[in-house]
Amino acid sequence: MTDTGDNTLTVRDNRTGKEYQIQISDGAIKAAELGQIKIDEDSPGLSTYDPGFTNTASCRSSVTYIDGEKGILEYRGYPIEQLAEKSSFLEVAYLLIHGALPTKEQYDTWVHEITHHTFLHENVKTFMQGFRYDAHPMGMLMASVGALSTFYPESNNITDADNRHMQIVRMIAKMPTLGAWAFRHAQGKPYVYPDNELSYTENFLAMLFKMSEQKYVADERLVKALDVLFILHADHEQNCSTNAVRSVGSSQVDPYSSVAAGIGALYGPLHGGANEAVLRMLRRIGSKENIPAFIEGVKNGNEKLMGFGHRVYKNYDPRAKIIKKACDDVFEVTGVNPLLEIAQELEKIALEDEYFVKRKLYPNVDFYSGLIYEAFQFPPEMFTVLFAIGRTPGWLAQWLELVQDKDQKIARPKQIYTGDRTLDFVPSSERWAGDAGITPGIS
Ligand code: CMC
Repeated sequence: MTDTGDNTLTVRDNRTGKEYQIQISDGAIKAAELGQIKIDEDSPGLSTYDPGFTNTASCRSSVTYIDGEKGILEYRGYPIEQLAEKSSFLEVAYLLIHGALPTKEQYDTWVHEITHHTFLHENVKTFMQGFRYDAHPMGMLMASVGALSTFYPESNNITDADNRHMQIVRMIAKMPTLGAWAFRHAQGKPYVYPDNELSYTENFLAMLFKMSEQKYVADERLVKALDVLFILHADHEQNCSTNAVRSVGSSQVDPYSSVAAGIGALYGPLHGGANEAVLRMLRRIGSKENIPAFIEGVKNGNEKLMGFGHRVYKNYDPRAKIIKKACDDVFEVTGVNPLLEIAQELEKIALEDEYFVKRKLYPNVDFYSGLIYEAFQFPPEMFTVLFAIGRTPGWLAQWLELVQDKDQKIARPKQIYTGDRTLDFVPSSERWAGDAGITPGIS
């Protein structure tokens, strides 16, 4: 196609007076094109400086669409609201991985495959038992997912489609078992083996909470609510942990190592840990009467209203709306968490306050999720583990896309070097010669 010039950017370098035409595709320019902009042939070309990738696309992706201004989230084109209401987590996982909804036969095969790979090698159990009694379950999860690469060494053959599929099934299947065992470990309770007669989410609840009963039967409203929470967390395009999965995966390492990196990223408080902070905040506020004073403190810059605001959403986070509704279903079973009243009042006041309105600060996914998790009796350390189980199909869908994308290269950002150059090295024997009490060469 001949370029009419409409889809180009004209850049004039005022240092040299030269002009350049740079192609625009899909609303982006290729950063490498800027490399041709130089002061002279010997100088490095122009690059962009973008810590945190605030305005840099790292890939082309057809997995998840977000419109932050309008509060839209879609997986493979399907609105999150419809998936949460009418689908199941395993069907959504299929959708994310395969790019289309399954036929009945495909779905049955998928569920069968996942269900029959939930068991772990006994040595994984021994490995997990080696952790200290107070080990954080996210640390245990990250280490054990990484360790799975040693149980399935063939997983490094990432060019083989059947092999990739096998590892994807294994990881989605084993994640709840690993998460539940990390939970039981902290409580000093025996690990519970998977029950293949149960659905994915029922089985997870059984592995978490089963004691001496023959069969653990979870309340179906709780099963549904947890399944919905998994769906809501299943993918969120190029967030910090997905970027970690892609970045590590770009070295062509096996998917267990890549997902372990994603779990590490999710572990951080700026990513997966905000819902725990919301609970702490609500407890500190204590009662509705204290909300105005708290809001004043936020407006004066003393602290943040946790669970509000988002880098992408400048509208109500669509996931928060669904979780708010799921709260009602869960509390019908468990009894109302008294913090809910404070949260609802806080939301009402904040949404009417000019400070929050002006900055487009709305509740995000974490504002209500902690309240639900607490109702399930999960300790706060488990909240991020639940997030990781839900996010696994998303990480794997993004990994799959990455390893089949011809445009992708090993991730290797540029830097702007700000340190010293060409210093002369002076050996320690000379540098320390005058220092009292230090014998050069012995330390
Ligand atoms: N409470 C009070 N003020 C806020 C808040 C908040 N929660 N969030 C942002 N602001 C203010 C911020 O101070 C700034 O004000 P000003 O323009 O006067 O300096 C303005 O809003 C823009 O904020 P920002 O920090 O530039 O926005 P960001 O995109 O860099 O940060 C955020 C996004 C999520 C880190 C931030 O909103 C925040 O810290 N929120 C609280 C923590 C939280 O709930 N995190 C969970 C995020 S959702 C989980 C996920 O998807 O992974």
